[in-house]
Amino acid sequence: MKHFKLLVSLPMFAMGLTAQAQLTSTVQLDLNQQGYVIPKEIYGQFSEHLGQCIYGGLWVGENSPIPNEQGYRKDVLQALKDLKVPVLRWPGGCFADEYHWMDGIGPRDKRPTMVNTNWGGTVEDNSFGTHEFMNLCELIGCEPYISGNVGSGTVEEMAKWVEYMTSDGDSPMANLRRQNGREKPWKLKFLGVGNESWGCGGNMRPEFYSDLYRRYSTYCREFSGNKLYKIASGASDYDYNWTEVCMKAIGNKMNAISLQYYSVINGWDKPKGSATDFTTAEYLRTLSKCVEIESVIKKHIAIMDEIDKKGRIDLLLDEWGTWWDVEEGTNPGWLFQQNTMRDAVVASLSLDIFHKYTRRLKMANIAQIVNVLQSMILTDQEGQGHMVLTPTYHVFRMYSVHQDATNIPLQILTDIIDTEDNRRLPLLSATASKDKNGKVHVSMTNASPDKTQTVTVNLGGLNVKTAAGEILQGKAMGSYNTFAKPNEVTPAKFTDAKVKKGTLEVTIPAHSIITLELN
Ligand code: AHR
Repeated sequence: MKHFKLLVSLPMFAMGLTAQAQLTSTVQLDLNQQGYVIPKEIYGQFSEHLGQCIYGGLWVGENSPIPNEQGYRKDVLQALKDLKVPVLRWPGGCFADEYHWMDGIGPRDKRPTMVNTNWGGTVEDNSFGTHEFMNLCELIGCEPYISGNVGSGTVEEMAKWVEYMTSDGDSPMANLRRQNGREKPWKLKFLGVGNESWGCGGNMRPEFYSDLYRRYSTYCREFSGNKLYKIASGASDYDYNWTEVCMKAIGNKMNAISLQYYSVINGWDKPKGSATDFTTAEYLRTLSKCVEIESVIKKHIAIMDEIDKKGRIDLLLDEWGTWWDVEEGTNPGWLFQQNTMRDAVVASLSLDIFHKYTRRLKMANIAQIVNVLQSMILTDQEGQGHMVLTPTYHVFRMYSVHQDATNIPLQILTDIIDTEDNRRLPLLSATASKDKNGKVHVSMTNASPDKTQTVTVNLGGLNVKTAAGEILQGKAMGSYNTFAKPNEVTPAKFTDAKVKKGTLEVTIPAHSIITLELN
C-alpha cells in the first residue's frame, strides 16, 4: 500500500512519499468560480418490493400493533420527514419489470397475489400499491418517481397507469381511481421507462431498448396540466456503449438517462463480504471503489456532452451504494445488511463527488431506503416494532444543508493511498455550498482508517468569525447501531474549529465526518 500527497480536483501529481503518524491536508475554497446548484434530488431514495423495505419497513398496515398512521410506521415516517427526502423511486428495481399496477388497486383483501421471483420467491399480496405509495410521498413531502414495466408489461398498461395517477378529467382511469377513493389526481413528474433493461428488465441490447423506449414513452400522455419528466433506463457502471447508443437513438425524446453503480468489491459472482466484519484492506478497497464513480460519471457525461451539445438531457444515478452479504439468519433474497462507519464514509465521499457534477447529474437515489442494502433505517425482522437509524442516515441528515444550495468549487491537497486492487483513495474529501440564505456549509471526511487529520481550509476571502456543527464518528470503522444499542454511532456537536486570518483549522479523527456552518 503506497502513500502519496495529492492535489485533488486538478490534474493529479504526486508530492512524494509520506509516512506520518498524523495527516495534514489543505482545502482551498474557490469563490471566483461559479458552482452549479446541487439539486435536492441528489439526496433521493429508492424503495422496492424487496425483503422488508415496503412490508415491515415502510408499511405495516392499519391493523398492526406497531404504531402506524394509515398503515405507515409512525417512527419511520417521522425519521424520513426529518431527513427531508426529496424524491422516492418505486416499485423497483428488478421488481418494477414484473409489476402489474392494476393488481395493487381496489380493496386490499381482493387484490391478487404474485410471486416476487427476483427477491426470494416471496409471495407479494399487493396490499401496498399505487394509492399507498403516492399517499406516502404526500405524507413525507417528496416527489414520487415511478418505474414503469417495460420488461413484461404492455404499452397500454403503462399508458393507463399514467392516466390513473394524473388525469383529472372524466376519463376511464380517473374514474376508476375515484372509485378507489382518490378524487383528485396526484402529481407525477418522474417516470422511468423500464429499469435495468440490459439485465433483469428484459436482457435487451441498447438498440432494441431504445426503440421500445420510444414506443412506450409515446403513449405516456400528459393529463390535466401534469408535466412528465421521462427517464430512459440507463447503463450499468462501465457500460459506456449503452449510454452512447441510447443518446443517439432516443435523443430528445427523453428528459434523462439513468445509471447504476454499486460499490461491490469482490465482483458480482463472489461473496460480497461481511457488512460489519472487515479488514483495513477491505475498508480501503471499498472506499477506492466508491470514489471510482467519479471517473465513471465523467465518462458518461463526456459521451452525453458530445451528442447532446445543448445539455438538454440529464444524467440520473438511479441506484448506488454498498452491497454486502446478508446478515446471518436472514433470507438471502432479501438483501438485509448492517451499516457501519464504513458505509457512512461511502455516503459522504459519494455525495461530495455528486456535488461536483450537477451540471448534468440531477438526481441520485441511494439503494435502498429501509432494510435493504445501504439503507437509512433498519426495522427489526421479528416485528417487535424497533427501529434504528444507520450511520448512513446520519450522513444524509447532516448533509441535508447542501440540498438546493450552490456548490462552491474547491481544491484539496491531501495524502492518497494506492490500494491492493490498484485503485487510489485520497484521504480527505470535502464539499462546500452556499444556501439560499447566504449561509456557507462545509463538510469534510477523514477517510483514513487509523490516522487523525489536521485540515486547514483557506476560506478564499469569505468573512468568517465562527464555525460550528456536527461530527459523526464511531469508535471503530466497523461501528454500527443495533436495536439494543441504537446510539453507538450518532452525530455529536463539533466545536473544535478554529477560525483565524481567513482560514479555518480543524482536527478530524480517523474515519469520521463533519459538517460545519460558517458564520
Ligand atoms: O437494489 C437492488 C437491485 O439492484 C435492483 O432491483 C436492481 O435494479 C439492481 O440490480
